[in-house]
Amino acid sequence: MLNSIKKIALALSASALVLACTPTEKIDKEPMKVIDHHTYAQPDEALITHLDWEANVDFNTKTITANATFTISKTENAQEIILDTNGLSIKGVKDEKGNDLAFKIGNEKPFLGSPLIIKLNNDTKTISINYKTGVDAEALQWLSPQQTADEKSPFLFTQSQAILARSWVPVQDSPGIRFTYNAHVTVPKGMLALMSATNPTEVSNNGVYDFKMDKPIPAYLLALTVGDITYQRLSERTGVYAEPSVIKAAAYEFEDMEQMVEAAEKLYGPYQWGVYDLIVLPPSFPFGGMENPMLTFATPTILAGDRSLVSLVAHELAHSWSGNLVTNATWDDFWLNEGFTVYFEQRIMEAVYGRDYSEMLALLSLQDLKKEVASILAGKKPEDTQLKLNLEGRNPDDGMTAIAYDKGYYFLRLIEERVGRDKFDAFLKDYFTSNAFHSMTTDEFITQINSKLFEKNGLPIDESLYADWIFGEGLPANCPQPQSDRFENVEKVVEQWVNGTPMEELFTPEDIMTKKWSSHEWLHFLRSLPNDLSLAQMQKLDEVFQFTYSRNSEILAAWMVHVIKHQYEPGYQNLENFLVHTGRRKFLSPLYAEMAKTDEGLKMAKEIYTKARPNYHYVAISTMDKMLNWQE
Ligand code: BES
Ligand code: ZN
Repeated sequence: MLNSIKKIALALSASALVLACTPTEKIDKEPMKVIDHHTYAQPDEALITHLDWEANVDFNTKTITANATFTISKTENAQEIILDTNGLSIKGVKDEKGNDLAFKIGNEKPFLGSPLIIKLNNDTKTISINYKTGVDAEALQWLSPQQTADEKSPFLFTQSQAILARSWVPVQDSPGIRFTYNAHVTVPKGMLALMSATNPTEVSNNGVYDFKMDKPIPAYLLALTVGDITYQRLSERTGVYAEPSVIKAAAYEFEDMEQMVEAAEKLYGPYQWGVYDLIVLPPSFPFGGMENPMLTFATPTILAGDRSLVSLVAHELAHSWSGNLVTNATWDDFWLNEGFTVYFEQRIMEAVYGRDYSEMLALLSLQDLKKEVASILAGKKPEDTQLKLNLEGRNPDDGMTAIAYDKGYYFLRLIEERVGRDKFDAFLKDYFTSNAFHSMTTDEFITQINSKLFEKNGLPIDESLYADWIFGEGLPANCPQPQSDRFENVEKVVEQWVNGTPMEELFTPEDIMTKKWSSHEWLHFLRSLPNDLSLAQMQKLDEVFQFTYSRNSEILAAWMVHVIKHQYEPGYQNLENFLVHTGRRKFLSPLYAEMAKTDEGLKMAKEIYTKARPNYHYVAISTMDKMLNWQE
């Protein structure tokens, strides 16, 4: 048995899950078994290696009917293959000869859905599953025309990360299992369909589209979107998609995309996915961005009009290396995706916009981190402040906190500061190259950094680094401290104003008009304001800076926290508008949480939520329902 598993691991080395912990060495050793608590798949028995997906997208019934044909690889004796499903109705399964294969659907568990267990013959090569998605498939958001920018056509997008792919494709839904895919998708005529693959740039005559992803990806990177969408090329390999009324603003906002790709390549090696496009989705998209290969999905809330929120593009682009090339083996290792990506994002931003700029981002990240640590500790789950998580029996979404992102970032920054940038960069470049298209566990990361960074350079290995940061709780005392003169200046201004210096002395009318400050300085300004402003002070701020009407979503969201905290009624209407029209969870959570702190606020939160909830994606709804104790 073990022998044949080893053979599989070898045979599949480049194209699929390799359970062996090091891709190139240790071939003779028994592969280290990685346990992913969030899949039913038994990849060391039978494994998917390629998907041919033939689908029909029906906006009337809000369902997708499809055939998912998988090429599989199995041990000689494997009797069955297990896939993950959630809410799918399975009509039948056939092999490559068209013969029926027996299957059964196991018991459903919270978050995980049900295993689809398919009987295999000794010589089964492909399995073809005929199925239909459920009406409330969690990954799918079906928007009415009114929920889009142009209000003309319905819209569909998917969100598969972390374990929602199984609600629209029966699949081995583990980040450690990779496969290539082709798709043949039919949508209503006149609509454009896009996937995380080679994409069309124009609407087809018949509503039929073909896609190809010839690099092996994990299931959480499967993505599809359908709507009234147009394309604008930005450079030979970059471009933006958006609804017609948004495309011009999008093209302006993301003009620096090619420059970012070049900066990223200079740091850590060639961009391996060919094209890098981005689509601006309707406002209910629950995240800022999602790194779907070849086509980042993004929220329209980064269209500030002045390119000030494009670090999000750097972040999603960075995932093309950290995450999409080298992938967290399980959701317990999520920091390997996000911590590396925040580090890489900031290096791209530094390269394109300067150190001054990236240090402001780093300080905002430190603020987020401190707040998150305090909140997790207050919630009595101190183990959730470790980089390496244990999410067994829990929704992997629980691990999606600032710990993975910002503690992960600061851990890597600390190592960079210790060994020097040149050595660290050389290590990272090699890490992304030699582990490309493989998954990575936290333990294997430690093995590799020990040998390929510390030992290789004759540097001592400091085990306390891992004990404190990866397996330890809270924020370690040796956390790096960024430096920003611009932020120090902001703090001075706040202090002087709070101590009575009139606004007019601190800002000339010209300062305000010319927007002397970047949006990050404004954000820092708003975050630094005291919690006990008077009504007159709130009014003054609003009168001078018009925060209530800010077009910058980050600034608006930070201001709205004060609106709630200080019961600043002139801001209420816009607070409601913002919450009803934006589905980005990062903005919703702090605002609803702030309202929920008082009885009166909670009442207001529930009133707004009643109106807003139908516009939100499942991901946002599940968080807010819990927060507001919502019963349908
Ligand atoms: N991959 C994440 C989004 C994600 C994580 C979705 C986990 C589902 C589960 C994406 O790259 C991300 O981190 N997005 C951030 C933006 C970023 C600039 C920090 C977001 O959406 O806010
Ligand atoms: Zn990310």
